Amino acid sequence: PSARTFYDEVGGAPTFTRLIAHFYAAVRTDPVIGPLYPQDDWQGAEVRLRSFLEQYWGGPTTYSQQRGHPRLRMRHAPFAIGPVERDAWLTHMRAAVDSLGLTAEQDATLWGYLEMAARSMQNRFPDD
Ligand code: HEM
Repeated sequence: PSARTFYDEVGGAPTFTRLIAHFYAAVRTDPVIGPLYPQDDWQGAEVRLRSFLEQYWGGPTTYSQQRGHPRLRMRHAPFAIGPVERDAWLTHMRAAVDSLGLTAEQDATLWGYLEMAARSMQNRFPDD
């Protein structure tokens, strides 16, 4: 039997569904990053991010079955992501994580990853 995953520990699919619904409700109306998303496919965007995070934390591998290898930096290349866009993304994600009521340790685990991942997705560096 495999070890209990972080996905299970935080409550499985319902937890990730709440996280991503909360996040995208804010992103949709954000004047900085909202316009980057497919305006006619918010539902699809939700499914892609949710299933990626579920898979990352040990849940179902639906993301890779539907999308293949994540290659997230490459998939973000079409979007100009500087510090302002990165911070807008993180602000909405921080509020969404807060809404989950995780333990301090679970919160630190999840947030540590998200902050690192958001930094790695940045592809515009104004000081260059
Ligand atoms: C897709 C923006 C960070 C995971 C997207 C899309 C946009 C976007 C505009 C296209 C929406 C779609 O059609 O799915 C941003 C911005 C970020 C950011 C502005 C700020 C740093 C992240 C981070 C992660 C992530 C940190 C992972 C932890 C994903 C995934 C997809 C996606 C999984 C769907 C990829 C696919 O299969 O096509 N992002 N993103 N993004 N993003 Fe981000």
